[in-house]
Amino acid sequence: MEKSIETIESIRKVMGEDLAILGHHYQSDAVIAHTDIRGDSLELSRKISPLKAKYIVFCGVYFMAESAAILQRPDQKVFIPDTGASCPMADMAEAGRVETVLNLLGKSGRKIIPLTYVNSSAAVKGVVGRFGGSVCTSANAKTMLDWARKQGDAVLFLPDKHLARNTANYLGIPEEKRLILHEAVIDGDPNLYVDPAEAEDKELIIWPGYCPIHEEFTLDAIDNIRRTEPDAKIVVHPECDPSVVQAADGNGSTTFLIKYAEEAPAGSTIYIGTEENLVSRLAERFKNEKVIKPLKVSLCEDMGKITLENLAALLANIENETPVSVSDDVKEPARLALERMLEACA
Ligand code: 13P
Ligand code: SF4
Repeated sequence: MEKSIETIESIRKVMGEDLAILGHHYQSDAVIAHTDIRGDSLELSRKISPLKAKYIVFCGVYFMAESAAILQRPDQKVFIPDTGASCPMADMAEAGRVETVLNLLGKSGRKIIPLTYVNSSAAVKGVVGRFGGSVCTSANAKTMLDWARKQGDAVLFLPDKHLARNTANYLGIPEEKRLILHEAVIDGDPNLYVDPAEAEDKELIIWPGYCPIHEEFTLDAIDNIRRTEPDAKIVVHPECDPSVVQAADGNGSTTFLIKYAEEAPAGSTIYIGTEENLVSRLAERFKNEKVIKPLKVSLCEDMGKITLENLAALLANIENETPVSVSDDVKEPARLALERMLEACA
């Protein structure tokens, strides 16, 4: 560990402004200590192209590094210390299937606008871009779902069903105007998640993906705290089930959760329903002023795949490492999808 820290810090010193290390809030404290920029998915995507650095190292999961590679300038290269750090939710939407579903839904003659959560592959963002859609993050899902509704007759939101339903609740889209896709046998193919007839009168069609880490937070856990510690506050990420989000005192992106902890009065107790690395960092930061606890300890193993050791190994050999690359046929439409979001939320 000591050796890795020495390697990372000496390379950062030598490379100076040529190197930028970005880290998502769910990274471990050990990794976060060596990052230049920390943020939620939206903040990190916004910060990529204005960076002076030619070498960008992304400490997070693969879709985040891919988004960086889509938005990078031609003179920049993006790396991730472990290309196997995937997001299980992003893996629940495969690009070919998304395209098939969009084609099936489009057969009714209605204009279906896809809106993908940033937690999706570059290939999915490419399909979404080609179908006139865009991207959202947990920080701007309300603005972007509102945007998408104005572009066509209905929206296909993917892959996170919980973020979709929480956002729809906020915007007042009635339950009867929503459809959560499910397995169906269509034209002999058992793998499709859509029956176009069912979707005909719907405004919001929802992909059935979810985050296994945020599914761990339950209404029972909240009820228990309300009974035993009625003064405690509870805030959660909108990837949690709607029952959990509705019972909480607030919900929002990782940046929202951090701000909530920062602004809570001294002496208060706050339970946070999100990934453990962020919760324990906040608990440590405010340990002399307020009590911050996890709603339940839930760790994202994939975020944990980035370690000091693989960060040091990458930096030590960065000239010979393979950067994250996205093929041009995917990159252009995916960039369009991302830029539509950045413009709508400027
Ligand atoms: P944020 O955009 O809120 O940081 O969330 C990203 C993520 O992966 C949550 O699981
Ligand atoms: Fe994906 Fe959930 Fe991990 Fe976020 S916490 S990267 S959504 S699996």
